[in-house]
Amino acid sequence: MTVHERTQVGIVGAGPAGLLLSHLLALGGVDSVCVENRSRAYCEARQRAGMLESTTVELLRTVGLGDRLDAEGLEHDGIYVQFDGQRHHLNFRELTGGRWITIYAQTEIVKDLIAARTAAGAALEFEVSGTTVGRLDSDAPVLCYTDASDERHVVTCDVIAGCDGFHGITRRSIPANGLTMLAERSYPYAWLGILAAAPPSTDEVIYCRHDRGFALHSMRTPEIGRLYLQVPADEDIARWRDEQIWAELATRFALPGWSLTNGPVLQKSITPMRSFVAAPMRYGNLFLAGDAAHIVPPTGAKGLNLAVADVAALATALTRLLRDADPSLADAYSDHCLERVWRSTHLSWWMTSMLHIAPGQDQFESELQLTQLRHLVTSRTAAATLAETYTGYAPIRYDPSTRLAAKQLWPSVA
Ligand code: FAD
Ligand code: PHB
Repeated sequence: MTVHERTQVGIVGAGPAGLLLSHLLALGGVDSVCVENRSRAYCEARQRAGMLESTTVELLRTVGLGDRLDAEGLEHDGIYVQFDGQRHHLNFRELTGGRWITIYAQTEIVKDLIAARTAAGAALEFEVSGTTVGRLDSDAPVLCYTDASDERHVVTCDVIAGCDGFHGITRRSIPANGLTMLAERSYPYAWLGILAAAPPSTDEVIYCRHDRGFALHSMRTPEIGRLYLQVPADEDIARWRDEQIWAELATRFALPGWSLTNGPVLQKSITPMRSFVAAPMRYGNLFLAGDAAHIVPPTGAKGLNLAVADVAALATALTRLLRDADPSLADAYSDHCLERVWRSTHLSWWMTSMLHIAPGQDQFESELQLTQLRHLVTSRTAAATLAETYTGYAPIRYDPSTRLAAKQLWPSVA
């Protein structure tokens, strides 16, 4: 049997982007249906981001999602940068006049969002299959899916939001002439990441350039560490026994008088590194947000923060469109978001290329990396440039009741 339904916004994907969008739309009085092909348990356990900009934290607090974040998040003043056998601290709070960063895992944000949406009785369906979107250039686009009990749904919407990540179906449903830019870079290395029952051996995150490759020491809680190693792009994870991972991490992070605490590895995976931007982030009445539209290598910790910024803008724009029949913000959505996307794409590319060792890298390239790193830790201007974008490009605005024109609300819009 096929069920025919109607909603204002059909949302594909219940990652951070899709879940937050349905939450923000509900605050503005707009209905949505959100569908996800994985199970709730899978979404709540998928290990990914951990580093939030202060702008993201402020937004989550403003929209009622700050309680557990404030109780359990680890607020940091800055980061450590290590190279040439020395570790240096960059104090972002001081460099930016008060902005900070917070460690709070994406898994926890997803849990908080699912709990909030479920408590509000939201239409949120897990374990769907056969998701398609159609009639995108009409006033009544459709979202179709089969639910977990095998019932087919055809949902007529005013607007569809593609929040289904890089491998999702929404971006691919846009006809060939609908995207005017597909800009992409792949990098010749990947990250092997572990989650470990090992108390962090550092108070703040360490980004480390070593001749054997990049390493990152992050954390999730005072008991759980999150660490990453640069490995070849085509690396087979089966080649890495846990003892080897710890030994390689200890070699890359080594400093006299400092040691790395080991512990059982709870989870390990390999993440490829890619930059990708699709534009415009809209086709007809399909709007793309988060990883569905753009991805960055994780070195600048930007992906989740960009997804949150997109969705705050999209929720504001769609509320204006659907409640007040005013399309001006929806029309400016893509240009507004792409400004931040390119700033973050540059930061992520810059940090990635400054800190990783490319296969066959020659002395010229190594010296260029080292001179940038020395500049970063000796020049306040250089450090402030990194700190400004790392902690958040500009405030993230979610304002469903605004009457401002696009240019006043979003100064980046021409
Ligand atoms: P996703 O999280 O990918 O969610 C998309 C959802 O859509 C998924 O749940 C998927 O199952 C679902 N879906 C896909 N296809 C369909 C379909 N056909 N039908 C229904 N549902 C579908 N970012 C940061 O800001 N800070 C960090 O510190 C950071 N560290 C990272 C570390 C690693 C190792 C990785 C891999 C990423 C990191 N990121 C970081 C990036 C961040 O995790 C992503 O940018 C973020 O998950 C994007 O959220 P999203 O909702 O757009 O996409
Ligand atoms: C993380 O905590 O997983 C993390 C932190 C900083 C990054 C990437 C990932 O740049």
